[in-house]
Amino acid sequence: MSDGEISGWQEEPFVVEVKAGDIKAFCMCGLSKNGPFCDGSHVTTDKMPEVIKFEENQTIYACGCQQSGNRPYCDGTHMTLGEDK
Ligand code: FES
Repeated sequence: MSDGEISGWQEEPFVVEVKAGDIKAFCMCGLSKNGPFCDGSHVTTDKMPEVIKFEENQTIYACGCQQSGNRPYCDGTHMTLGEDK
């Protein structure tokens, strides 16, 4: 993979249980080895993680394919990937 190239972590969303008061940093550079969460790899890019404080206990679907138009959340784009194969 070349610098900054986005390859995706997996072909479906990560199901993440969060609790009220949790603060999560989601990777937005695509380089984290701990997707969908930030591992600090963005320091080599001009991107920053998306830091979200959750106000209630909930289940979220975090994008795993890195192609969502609503990152860090899944928007269903993953279902259209690979259709040309
Ligand atoms: Fe990326 Fe669903 S996992 S859009």
